[in-house]
Amino acid sequence: MLSGRRIILGVCGGIAAYKAALLARLLRKERAEVKVVLTTGAEAFVTPLLFEALVRDRCFTQRDFLAPQGGFIPHTDLAAWAEAIVVAPATASFLSKLARGEPSDLLIAVILASTAPVLLAPAMNTHMFKHPATQENLERLRGFGYHIVPPGEGALACGEEGPGRMPEPEDLLLEVEKLLTPSLLAGRRVLITGGPTREPLDAVRFISNPSSGRMAVALSRAALLLGAEVHLVHGPLSVSPPPGVKTHAVTTAREMLQVAGEIFPEADLVVFAAAVCDLAPAEVLPGKIPKENLPERISLVPTPDIARELNSRKRPHQVSIGFALEEPSQLLPRARKKLLDKGFDLVAANPLSAFEARETEIFLLGKHLSEPIRLSGSKEKVAFRILKEGARVLSGKA
Ligand SMILES: Cc1cc2nc3c(=O)[nH]c(=O)nc-3n(C[C@H](O)[C@H](O)[C@H](O)COP(=O)(O)O)c2cc1C
Repeated sequence: MLSGRRIILGVCGGIAAYKAALLARLLRKERAEVKVVLTTGAEAFVTPLLFEALVRDRCFTQRDFLAPQGGFIPHTDLAAWAEAIVVAPATASFLSKLARGEPSDLLIAVILASTAPVLLAPAMNTHMFKHPATQENLERLRGFGYHIVPPGEGALACGEEGPGRMPEPEDLLLEVEKLLTPSLLAGRRVLITGGPTREPLDAVRFISNPSSGRMAVALSRAALLLGAEVHLVHGPLSVSPPPGVKTHAVTTAREMLQVAGEIFPEADLVVFAAAVCDLAPAEVLPGKIPKENLPERISLVPTPDIARELNSRKRPHQVSIGFALEEPSQLLPRARKKLLDKGFDLVAANPLSAFEARETEIFLLGKHLSEPIRLSGSKEKVAFRILKEGARVLSGKA
């Protein structure tokens, strides 16, 4: 999502400056083009060389502002280049100068000269953060339309406890992605089911499947980036959902139906990405049955068909997306049947090989689409495309 996007990372003189190096690395890993601007204060904590080596580009400092070279005008040229500006950590001193619009620092001059979205991650001693002067500055900066990431709470390097910690680089990365993503699902509630279900035989044995939940997590992340409130109802996951997603852990298909059913009436878009076990032991035996007493045969009963059940309660403004995991030879006919029989608006059909994989290939079928759309690549990328299509159907119904 950040591939080729042009981002300026501003770093100020706080202890969390070392975390900015990790953020620079993550941005590069996402293939963003990154230019770093260090304030004078930052240079007491970190060096330009560190960032130059991480982002493979020049790092700009106050010296460039005062003595530009080769016809390059640092503040205006950097401002024109940037698609987004992130300042992490943003010190109290920087916030104060920016709130006053005082461009004596290169970083502030770049921000003033730019029309790109700006994300600020304040990090400081908790009393400094709570001080009315800092709070007033933040209020003023919010009024300018800048996005402020609230600092985390906890033990700070200065020995105090409370708000003031810079959020972890992974969390900031998500915020940067949000900054650069159109809010197609702003004000919408998205319900996603994910992961496998487990159907118990006794206290320790169960029937399940090897679903990792990776696609549901990717969908949750994409929905979040598109501005939605996201509810993820999930069985045991092998990957962690991103921060900001409202998670609801369940075990069995019956529980998944119950919990998803409670959220369903308020959801605008529902994605059924869970690998629900179709069958469950008819009887759950109490405790752990000793090996010698295990039954020779287990009677199985069907579990509830969650998508069919919830789609039957669907109201006209709601959009539902299903997944069809099929043998390649049967992929499209079976997915089309599922689309029509189960009341989905869209069905993402993927071959069996996609089950635990990171990369995937999906054919997106929709009642409104004359031809399936072929999507391939990382689950993150594919999830994003699926939700964008879902948002398109949703806006058509509104
Ligand atoms: C060891 C040390 C740690 C500091 N940590 C912070 C901090 O986390 N947040 C902050 O706002 N200021 C912090 N300061 C104060 C800033 O470094 C100081 O205000 C500086 O002028 C900021 O420079 P800048 O605005 O050019 O980045 C710290 C100072 C020292 C000496």
